[in-house]
Amino acid sequence: MTQIYAIGGGKGGSGKSFLAANFGALFAREGLNTVLVDLDLGGSNLHSLLGVRQVKRGLNSYLNRSVCDLSDVAVPTEIPNLHLISSTDCSLEIGNLFYAQKVRILDAVCRLPFDAIFMDLGAGSTYNVIDFFLSAHEGIFVFTPEPTSIQNTVRFIKAVYLRRLKRILKQYAFNRVVKEIVEASEGGFVGSPIEIVDRLVEREPDRGKLLQKELCKLRFKLVLNQYRKHVDVTLGDKMEKVCNRHFHAGFQFLGNIAYDERVHNSVLAKTIFANKYPYTPTSTDLKHAAARIMKTTQKSTVATG
Ligand SMILES: Nc1ncnc2c1ncn2[C@@H]1O[C@H](COP(=O)(O)OP(=O)(O)OP(=O)(O)O)[C@@H](O)[C@H]1O
Ligand SMILES: [Mg+2]
Repeated sequence: MTQIYAIGGGKGGSGKSFLAANFGALFAREGLNTVLVDLDLGGSNLHSLLGVRQVKRGLNSYLNRSVCDLSDVAVPTEIPNLHLISSTDCSLEIGNLFYAQKVRILDAVCRLPFDAIFMDLGAGSTYNVIDFFLSAHEGIFVFTPEPTSIQNTVRFIKAVYLRRLKRILKQYAFNRVVKEIVEASEGGFVGSPIEIVDRLVEREPDRGKLLQKELCKLRFKLVLNQYRKHVDVTLGDKMEKVCNRHFHAGFQFLGNIAYDERVHNSVLAKTIFANKYPYTPTSTDLKHAAARIMKTTQKSTVATG
């Protein structure tokens, strides 16, 4: 069964594209037919990381119906089993995607004939980014040890969670529920999506439990990139614990990916870091994280399938 992974995180420059490219290469190395979809619309640069020089046809060819199938614009990379669907051919206004275009993309991605699909997303928490993230089987949040990155990632997680919550409660019912909760609360203020769920469970245990059950189906992964020696080694585990405690969803920390100056060289050389520098701590970290994604995905596929 095809597995779709989304790599996001809210903050720009945390290493989403770096991880998408390297995870893709590591999956391909395991013999999995893999495609990277550059959905950082307006800021696409995956082709550069992969050494794909000219993108004649990409996402835009699908959107303007020059091709009927999104897989027709998947180009092979230098790495066997690894393909790329780029969006550099899109207009400068592609960042402001129409709803119908978003639905077409989501639908087409789901039908791609590959074993593994990695969606590289842009920064920020616009509805487009969140909807791409939520459409995946597994959402991978990338953050770095800086407080600003952690803050943005937590905000992004909350935005993703709120969007899912609204979808479950449907927009109108959501507004009504929030209004009722605000009216019933003494302070007249509801702080976060988690609070909305907790208050609903208090007020209407049956409906609240059903909502919790739906939300618990959400499965997310966390990766701490650009890890440096002086950073608390348990930071990622702490983040996992906090998220699992505060959200009705499953979070799994995949590990730290060490900061390495040579990442810069691999970007300049337009080659995948894990291939150019295979015997480095960063490549070992990448391999461990990729193996954990494969392992838990296979497990959950067996469990649900
Ligand atoms: N583990 C690492 N060690 C050293 N440098 C890294 C590491 N990971 C990423 N970088 C560098 O950090 C910068 C940002 O990486 P990248 O472009 O992958 O981030 P991004 O999250 O995709 O950014 P954007 O949100 O702009 O798309 C790049 O210069 C990249 O080479
Ligand atoms: Mg990027």
